[in-house]
Amino acid sequence: MTRIKTMILLTLLSASALFAEVKKGENIEVPYIAYEIKMGKGFAEVQANCLTCHSFGYIINQGKQSREHWHKKVLKMISHFKAPISETDVEIITNYLAEHYGNGK
Ligand code: HEC
Repeated sequence: MTRIKTMILLTLLSASALFAEVKKGENIEVPYIAYEIKMGKGFAEVQANCLTCHSFGYIINQGKQSREHWHKKVLKMISHFKAPISETDVEIITNYLAEHYGNGK
């Protein structure tokens, strides 16, 4: 009985794998997303401290924000996700974010 069940399961699994296949000649288009990464003072620190866990998209998706917002985000990465960022780098990164992705506040 269990053998039959196993066989049915295996048959279903292999069948579903076939359905997932792409038909010949079908084009798969992978969207190209250009992240606007601003180079400048502090970018090296961002690269070393922030891009180790996630992409720059996480930063850009926030939109333009105040200096306080960015400062809180950097601190959140340390308190919530245990990012090992030094106090000096917290300042440098906050300044970088406020300058390039800031709203002037
Ligand atoms: C130790 C890993 C780690 C590091 C280092 C890190 N982050 Fe994150 N970050 C995360 C995780 C985990 C999330 C949440 C992912 C999710 O919710 O899907 C996140 C989310 C974010 C978000 C989305 C908003 C939010 O509040 O969740 C922003 C913005 C962000 N990170 C900015 C930064 C910046 C700036 C740095 C560098 C100072 C940084 N991160 C470094 C792990 C990290």
